[in-house]
Amino acid sequence: MDSFEYRQGELFCEDVPAGQIAEAAGTPTFVYSAATLIEHYDRIAAAFAVLRPIICYSIKSCQNIHLIRLLAERGAGMDVVSGGELFRALKGGADPARIVYAGVGKTDREIHEAIDAGIGWFNIESEAELANIIALATDRNVVVRAALRVNPDVDPKTHRHTSTGKKETKFGVDIERARRVFDEFGRNPRVRLTGLHLHIGSPVNTVAPYVEAIRKALALIGDLRAAGFTIDTLDIGGGFGADYETDQAPFAAEYAQHIVPLLKDQGLHVILEPGRSISANAGVLLARVLYVKQAGDKQFVIVDAAMTDLIRPALYDASHFLWPVRPGTDHVPARRRHDLRMPGCRMVDVVGPVCESGDFLARERYLPPVQRGDLLAVFTAGAYGFVMASHYNSRPNAAEVLVEGNAYRIIRRRENYPDLIEPEKS
Ligand code: LLP
Repeated sequence: MDSFEYRQGELFCEDVPAGQIAEAAGTPTFVYSAATLIEHYDRIAAAFAVLRPIICYSIKSCQNIHLIRLLAERGAGMDVVSGGELFRALKGGADPARIVYAGVGKTDREIHEAIDAGIGWFNIESEAELANIIALATDRNVVVRAALRVNPDVDPKTHRHTSTGKKETKFGVDIERARRVFDEFGRNPRVRLTGLHLHIGSPVNTVAPYVEAIRKALALIGDLRAAGFTIDTLDIGGGFGADYETDQAPFAAEYAQHIVPLLKDQGLHVILEPGRSISANAGVLLARVLYVKQAGDKQFVIVDAAMTDLIRPALYDASHFLWPVRPGTDHVPARRRHDLRMPGCRMVDVVGPVCESGDFLARERYLPPVQRGDLLAVFTAGAYGFVMASHYNSRPNAAEVLVEGNAYRIIRRRENYPDLIEPEKS
């Protein structure tokens, strides 16, 4: 599923030893494989090809402009949720007509920027927002296109922080209300409301919630068309699972197998907004062991990466496979599984230096013996890793490195101390 593999007891990203990158760029550092990123995009594109969809990469999952550029060159559209992400998408060379803009709290400034850019669609999250976009578009005498985000009230069975498709969420409007929104705004000449948008959660590791949500959306589209509205677009959102070494996520082809037949021949432009399923497997986080410490029966491995670099374990109890970069030939993991227990391994918690007991990267894992100075890799860290970084404890943000074949380059320099106080200068 990715281009990270052990060769003679050492981790490589494509054809570059991970250790070499850590020497050159320092730690903590996110390392991305261009080949993996593109492969995952291509897989989704191939799986859904008969629908000729627009695949809008969800920038929020991993926003480095160099990755955006790789995907834009591949023909990807972009899913953005802020003026900042729109800025990145445009700087990364994305085609504005293939940009969708979602988010419950778009400011006037952001709406103006999106109009200036000529984006493809606004995804509308409430009546109040729609009324505001109509007012701004009318003022400026422009016509924009929009899709109404509907809440299909399905349970995506994912973490409560990342579940969005139930009725009581802050996102979108519920499906019964949607009809009323169209009655009120659906014939507006300034904001052409010709689409529906769904996004039920993230990650959604089963196909059934998509099928249920899409069926509900199609029924609504049928009603709306019968009432004389033109509906030509359905954006089915993102949330497709990534392989977190748990065998839980279906492959793109499996989602497509059930989704494509529903959407074929419906006279709809189909939009997808995958983020994690493209970027997660494309990145690892490299960290160096600072200390090994015994506390009662527990052994702690303290590393130089923290929740400020990868917050997913702390925030969602997310489990990322983690293993030494140079485990030696005896400890090459046969398969990257969380419950891997090889001879000679011992149970440890891997924690960061931040002053929070929630600051951990892995708990109760069996790792080969490690010592100060060793490097560890946290896998499947490409999505919602660096993008969720903070400066808590005045920790400068990590570096980001992109590998292409046997070459690598720093695509975001490590922050330094002056960067920390730069915006505070008076
Ligand atoms: N479209 C919309 C409207 C979204 O809200 C999201 C994610 C996506 C697409 C992309 O979802 P993806 O394909 O990447 O799963 N920080 C959490 C995930 C939050 C997702 C927010 N919305 C995590 O680390 O798991």
